[in-house]
Amino acid sequence: MKLMKCVCIFRYGGPEVLAYEDAPCPHPGDGEVLVRVHAAGVNPVDWKIREGFLVEKIRHTLPLVLGWDVSGVVHSIGGNLKRLKVGDEVMSCPDVARDGAYAEYIVIKESEVALKPASVDHLHAAGLPMAGLTAWQALFEHGALAKGQRVLIQGAAGGVGSMALQLAKWKGAFVAGTASEGNHDFLRKLGIDQVVDYQRERFEDVVGPVDVVIDTQGGDVQERSWKVLKPGGILVSVVSPPSETLAAQFKARGVFFFARSDIGQLAELAKLVDSENLKVIVETTLPLSDATRGQELSQRGHARGKIVLRVV
Ligand SMILES: NC(=O)c1ccc[n+]([C@@H]2O[C@H](COP(=O)([O-])OP(=O)(O)OC[C@H]3O[C@@H](n4cnc5c(N)ncnc54)[C@H](OP(=O)(O)O)[C@@H]3O)[C@@H](O)[C@H]2O)c1
Repeated sequence: MKLMKCVCIFRYGGPEVLAYEDAPCPHPGDGEVLVRVHAAGVNPVDWKIREGFLVEKIRHTLPLVLGWDVSGVVHSIGGNLKRLKVGDEVMSCPDVARDGAYAEYIVIKESEVALKPASVDHLHAAGLPMAGLTAWQALFEHGALAKGQRVLIQGAAGGVGSMALQLAKWKGAFVAGTASEGNHDFLRKLGIDQVVDYQRERFEDVVGPVDVVIDTQGGDVQERSWKVLKPGGILVSVVSPPSETLAAQFKARGVFFFARSDIGQLAELAKLVDSENLKVIVETTLPLSDATRGQELSQRGHARGKIVLRVV
């Protein structure tokens, strides 16, 4: 039996439950590919699942390999494949209900795998799928953001925020965003129109009425966000369902969603990277064996851009 290195959990808990282990290399079934992982992105959902926060929503079998952002090369294929072949350089945001990508190999459904952008390496491609899809779906599917409209991005320097900022600028919107002071120059370089230091001022005092708010924070930040929305505007949260009562009070709408894998959107995101309209900012790179450190950094809640694990 061929073994591979992986980072998995045998029980839910803090960073100490992460185990760097040898495990059997999985095999692709019908409609699936086996990807040799070159790099795996770290996302907040990884430590949330590790801690058992999503145990009511997703039924995992333990042990579970974590990590649901990947870039690598198709190593072998199962039956009935329609698009992919051995040797393709690919990326994916695979199903979070299955084993993830903190591993040397991962089996993924072909329907969740897209070709990686040719102009960037695997480390950068691994930072794109989950944050890119979340930002795309928040802005364009739920927010229906159009050219000339105004958007406020809460947490603009993070993984989702830094993608949303660039995608909204590409669409031709006015973009305001919140971040701590140390991230302001970073956001200006990405083209932000107005940056608010959330530690020094209240965004609702300085941001003019907007059509769309993208909420990556929840709690008090989400509640105060209604105040900056135009009547008829929309608060799109990727963290928690907005209050229907407040939506009615401010004559606006609120929506919460979980991002879904969409290979058409991944192909669009790859095109934007290759045409230099979208940058994947990888701020921290760590070896797979240091996944614990990657999750600790993510859990602090102040990541700039992406944290990525190098596997090859
Ligand atoms: N629903 C979904 O499908 C989905 C998908 C992806 C992510 N998410 C969720 O979305 C959230 C963000 O994900 P992410 O990957 O972007 O996280 P991340 O990369 O860790 O970014 C967090 C960002 O939040 C900023 N921040 C912290 N406190 C803030 C505050 N009070 N006001 C404004 N900004 C603040 C930090 O900036 P500073 O350092 O400047 O403070 C940091 O850049 C997580 O909770 C994640 O689980 C949900």
